[in-house]
Amino acid sequence: EILQDIEMLIIDHINNPQLSKLSKLVPSIGKFFTVLPLVDAFKIQDNRRCISKRKFVAPSFNDIRQILNTAQLIALKDNLKLITFDGDITLYEDGNNLEGNSPILKYLLELLKMGVVIGIVTAAGYNQSNKYYERLFGLIDGIKESEELTLKQKENLLVIGGESNYLLRYNNEISGLQMESSKDWLLDEMKLWDDKEIERILSFGYGLLKEFTELLNINNKILIIVKERAVGIIPREGIKLEREILEEIVLRIDKSLREKFQDSNINWCAFNGGRDVWIDIGDKSLGVRILQNFVNKEIGEIIINESNTLHVGDQFASLGNNDYASRTAAATAWVASPSETEILLNDLVDYMM
Ligand code: IMP
Ligand code: MG
Repeated sequence: EILQDIEMLIIDHINNPQLSKLSKLVPSIGKFFTVLPLVDAFKIQDNRRCISKRKFVAPSFNDIRQILNTAQLIALKDNLKLITFDGDITLYEDGNNLEGNSPILKYLLELLKMGVVIGIVTAAGYNQSNKYYERLFGLIDGIKESEELTLKQKENLLVIGGESNYLLRYNNEISGLQMESSKDWLLDEMKLWDDKEIERILSFGYGLLKEFTELLNINNKILIIVKERAVGIIPREGIKLEREILEEIVLRIDKSLREKFQDSNINWCAFNGGRDVWIDIGDKSLGVRILQNFVNKEIGEIIINESNTLHVGDQFASLGNNDYASRTAAATAWVASPSETEILLNDLVDYMM
């Protein structure tokens, strides 16, 4: 009954976002791109998680996260055109690669076969395509060797690196990923970005990382990495940095950057990657929108928008998490591990059949 009520509140909010009851109850509520069949989703998750049979343990954050994910899949099953994935913790364990024996692989190939475009939207940013092959070789080789996919379906694999800084597409001629020229995909708003301002953000970010790692006594445990469009700290060999310290650094950085660059037209994001902290130029809302525009322009036929795109990721907390930004560009599903992604994709393919 509760979920039926919430389902109705969401429909009311979609029809009338300004005056909806939901926006009064939760002023910070975002935009819903689809309805959410929460009652059906609850029945599925209740079967699995015995939520209503439990006597002592109340419905938890994870129960609700799973119900919302299932509802989102059911809502999209007849209309899904683009599915985007975060990399670390979503497709593979933190710092690992997508290998040929990954249980997720067969679902990715199945989705391509169904005509869905796949995008990988990762923070990991490199300006050479072979680096992306190193992280994704299981998928790239799987596509190359597939006899079931058409040539056209094979080219429906896209990768965004560095949040929104690089775009690559699978290319049949080279049987691998090809870097696309930014003039073919830069969003209009990104064309206005000033390179000097980007440098100022990154060098200010570098200073903050230096200051906060010294303050929190981890400066001799880390290395500062400077890239074309990012600056970050990674632990030295054999060191594991404490979650609380990483979190403290991210929150301090977020605040300082917000204050310093509040009038800037450049998007940036600061996040705790689990073992490291990064400040990236760009964010995943731009990353997902770049893919939507690119597919609409280059692949045509299908019109892709927020209501037929799903972004799957693990970092959806509102501060210090980099998948959060994607919520303005797509429907989303929040997973906690690659094995949850596997279950989610098994369900999705099942509902889409
Ligand atoms: P994601 O989960 O796919 O978004 O990737 C996040 C992880 O990529 C971070 O935790 C880092 O370990 C790694 N990484 C490598 N290069 C970069 C970079 O340039 N910016 C941010 N993260 C990076
Ligand atoms: Mg991740």
